[in-house]
Amino acid sequence: MSAFHEEKVLSVHHWTDRLFTFTTTRDAGLRFSNGHFTMIGLRVNGKPLLRAYSIVSPNYEEHLEFLSIKVPDGPLTSRLQHIQVGDTVIVGKKPTGTLLIDYLLPGKRLYLVGTGTGLAPFMSIIRDPATYEKFEQVVLIHGVRQKDELAYHDLVTDHLPKHEFLGEMISQQLLYYPTVTRESYKNMGRVTDLMVSGKLFQDLGVPNIDPAEDRVMICGSPAMLRDLKHLLEERKFKEGNTTTPGDFVIERAFAEQ
Ligand code: A2P
Repeated sequence: MSAFHEEKVLSVHHWTDRLFTFTTTRDAGLRFSNGHFTMIGLRVNGKPLLRAYSIVSPNYEEHLEFLSIKVPDGPLTSRLQHIQVGDTVIVGKKPTGTLLIDYLLPGKRLYLVGTGTGLAPFMSIIRDPATYEKFEQVVLIHGVRQKDELAYHDLVTDHLPKHEFLGEMISQQLLYYPTVTRESYKNMGRVTDLMVSGKLFQDLGVPNIDPAEDRVMICGSPAMLRDLKHLLEERKFKEGNTTTPGDFVIERAFAEQ
């Protein structure tokens, strides 16, 4: 039996010349938890060429959505960036990953910290009612180089607060903090620097981060994961995993190829 489903591309949206999103059909048998990633890709000369991608869409939606960068000489993304509606992509049957609220201890506030395409798993998590049942407050932080890389900005600020079922929870419990490092924007700087200086917490009107009440999920480049993990461990946060829940969990933002 094949390890993949063949799915059809339903829509493609290019955010910038470095970043795009696409949706596909979803096999009725595909089960996943919000925050999971799976292998996706294309057949190249008959052989599957796959990379890990976090699933952007929540698990109750009929379709699947993914966020990808475009690397001109990347084996997969140099091809994937040209997909069109009706094309076939292959989707792994076994989603997995550590960015699940089940792998965090109970807490008051959940920080979701993503840089670049590291936002992807959090788009699924912020659309899961269970997130708002487990945490009083959810803080979504997205760090990018340029403001046009703030994918899903309008969905988070304009559409989700009006969502038929989630709108009330999102309006009352979700805080969103987009920050840009390489051009002028209302919030500027790396998430790590903004946490160390305390500016992030002042801007949001919340107390400084504290393992007694805060939980954190991190998704970004290896350097960002290393720095933020260090920052949290200095503050006595303990890392969780799929077998032992903790104060924070991390996962690499995939698809750098
Ligand atoms: P910067 O512009 O200062 O490199 P990328 O597209 O390279 O993944 O970067 C996405 C965002 O993550 C950028 O704003 C980038 O800032 C930031 N970033 C890169 N490395 C780190 C790090 N070690 N800690 C925190 N933020 C980082």
